[in-house]
Amino acid sequence: MAKKILSVESISLSYGQGKQEVRILDDISFSVNEYEFFSIVGPSGCGKSTLIRIIAGLQSPTSGKIVYKGREIASPTGDISMIFQNFALFPWKTALENVMLALESKGMSSEEMVKRGMAALKEVDLNGFESAYPAELSGGMKQRVGVARAIVSDPDLLLMDEPFSSLDDLTAEQLRWEVHKLVKDKKMPVKAVVMVSHNVEEIVELSDRIIVLSRPPSRIIDSMDVKLPYPRSRGRRDFLNVTARIYKDLYAGEK
Ligand SMILES: Nc1ncnc2c1ncn2[C@@H]1O[C@H](COP(=O)(O)OP(=O)(O)O)[C@@H](O)[C@H]1O
Ligand SMILES: [Mg+2]
Repeated sequence: MAKKILSVESISLSYGQGKQEVRILDDISFSVNEYEFFSIVGPSGCGKSTLIRIIAGLQSPTSGKIVYKGREIASPTGDISMIFQNFALFPWKTALENVMLALESKGMSSEEMVKRGMAALKEVDLNGFESAYPAELSGGMKQRVGVARAIVSDPDLLLMDEPFSSLDDLTAEQLRWEVHKLVKDKKMPVKAVVMVSHNVEEIVELSDRIIVLSRPPSRIIDSMDVKLPYPRSRGRRDFLNVTARIYKDLYAGEK
């Protein structure tokens, strides 16, 4: 039996109050099992970033709760980390310093932090770039730093918000598979991944399970297991069948 690591229970979120209230997320519930690559796809503006921030404990829902390893969470916890679309690096810190930030609250010696930070940079192929500042790095390298910062703390749950959307196609494709390998080959102790993206092909390429959100007020309009073997080839009929289903879901929501 697959073990549940995360459950999202009846999450709703509105911005504004009274007459200005706009409901973005409407009663979203799902759960994620260990060793699952779980993805959420939906149109721009449907609340994907909002939802993943709520899961990370960075934002409170209007109602509903997030249960992680059997406990309700309402603030960020040490073994959940996040990869952001825009890398979220501090420009005045080096690659290594950016990565080590994720260890600051862990009460480690600085030697230990450096050792772990260097190992994480090596894991993402950034050997020799530890002293570089973000401005000196390409988009792909910046996101490698983002990945290193996310994995350096050995998280059990890795959250990703459009992690490849700011990269050019070839860089995105390469990094996608590297991240997939890191988590799926169990090289890292990551127990589950939750990714949000508006990129249907990317979602189908990587995910074991997919849910589809509508436009706001966003609800889950479809969910599916994807059992195709990895690595997945975008040209294959069984791959296209899954993308077609998701496009149909998304267009059905257009008025
Ligand atoms: N802090 C905020 N205050 C008011 N509206 C917001 C805020 N953050 C996001 N929104 C609105 O909520 C909707 C969902 O945003 P977001 O979660 O960023 O969507 P997505 O990531 O799917 O593109 C958008 O219409 C956005 O304008
Ligand atoms: Mg977003």
